[in-house]
Formats: sequence, structure tokens, C-alpha cells
Amino acid sequence: MMGRRVVFKQRVVKSYRHPVLDRSLQTFRIKNEVRLMLEARRAGIPIPVIYSVDLPENRIVMEEIGGMRVKDALDDLPRDRAEEVCRKIGDIAARLHANDIVHGDLTTSNMLLDGDRIVVIDFSLGSKSSELEDKGVDMHLLEEAFHSAHYRRSELYEAVKDSYMKAYPGGAEVLKKVKEIEKRGRYTRKE
Ligand SMILES: Nc1ncnc2c1ncn2[C@@H]1O[C@H](COP(=O)(O)OP(=O)(O)OP(=O)(O)O)[C@@H](O)[C@H]1O
Ligand SMILES: [Mg+2]
Repeated sequence: MMGRRVVFKQRVVKSYRHPVLDRSLQTFRIKNEVRLMLEARRAGIPIPVIYSVDLPENRIVMEEIGGMRVKDALDDLPRDRAEEVCRKIGDIAARLHANDIVHGDLTTSNMLLDGDRIVVIDFSLGSKSSELEDKGVDMHLLEEAFHSAHYRRSELYEAVKDSYMKAYPGGAEVLKKVKEIEKRGRYTRKE
């Protein structure tokens, strides 16, 4: 790997857990993350190249992506370019969900803007699921990011939704579910 910049994603061992249980939990998680990354790549989504998976050390060694997190870049991009990035975000979400990949933490913090492409990272909370509810939670989180981190440009979320629905036939139904999830959230918060 000479000359290549790499990132070590290492999980810290939680000392309050039983060491044997902790080890199997960490192994499960790291395998889950790598499996989902590779499935995402197969679905045509850019992810970092994985150089090695070190189970005893609880770490993944992967390609370092240059550029910035979409979270940090989006608000300062020219309007057209920002919209283009948002359409790509919608397309990524569509590809994930069309392949029953639920990211689990689908926010602009876990997307890196590398030239013209968006590279998706951090599948540690992800799973394989065909459930509307799970896909809905992904889209709900993404929308929340636009209302919090990107509140000055929250209308850009319309571009995300539009490209999501165009690229994924089940998209409209997922977005309907999101409305239900949001209603539920408001209701429980009042209690
Ligand atoms: N391959 C990569 N190339 C460049 N930067 C990366 C890469 N992987 C991670 N990063 C940077 O490190 C940050 C944290 O990485 P990541 O999101 O995977 O971990 P995390 O949020 O701490 O994970 P977890 O939710 O599993 O605890 C990212 O927001 C990004 O800035
Ligand atoms: Mg993260």
C-alpha cells in the first residue's frame, strides 16, 4: 500500500462488557459493516476501497477519500451545484433501498464529496431489510439533516426526494411512511 493514504476505522472495546461477549459483538459488527459496504458497491454506490479487515484488532483498513463531508460542503456550494449534489444523494438512497440495503445512519456526515462523486461511508448501523419502516427511518434521518445542519437550504431536500422517487419505484411508498413516522414522533414527544 505504499504511497496510498489509508484510514483505519477501529472500534473501541467497551470495558464494561464481558470480554468474550464483547469480542463476538465487535466481530459481528465489523463483518456486518464490511458486508454492507461490499453490497453497496455491487449496487453501484461509490464506497472506499477496502484494503483489509483485521478482526483481532477490530478494524477496517480502507482508502482515504479526499475532499469534504457533504455536511461541511453543501451549504457553501453554488446553488446549481448544491442541487446536483442533492440529486446524487437521492440517487444513492434509491440504489441502496432498491437493493434492500438500509444504511442506518444516512446523513450528510456519512457522505464524502470527492470531485463529482459522493462516496458513502459508515455502514456500522446498517442492515439488509425490505421493510418500509426501515427504509422510512433512513429517509427520515436524511430529512432531519436537511432541517438541522442544512436549515438555510432545507428546500434542497425536495431535489433529494424527487431523484429518490425517480430512481426507485418503491420510493413514493417509503416517503409516505416517512410522514407517518414524523406524525408518530410529534405525538410521542407531546406525552
Ligand atoms: N474512507 C474515509 N476517507 C476519508 N475520511 C473518512 C473515511 N472514513 C471515515 N472518514 C472520516 O471519519 C469520520 C468518522 O467516520 P465514520 O463515520 O465511519 O465513523 P463514526 O461516525 O465514528 O462511526 P460509528 O458511527 O461507527 O461510531 C467521517 O465523518 C469522515 O470525516
Ligand atoms: Mg459517521
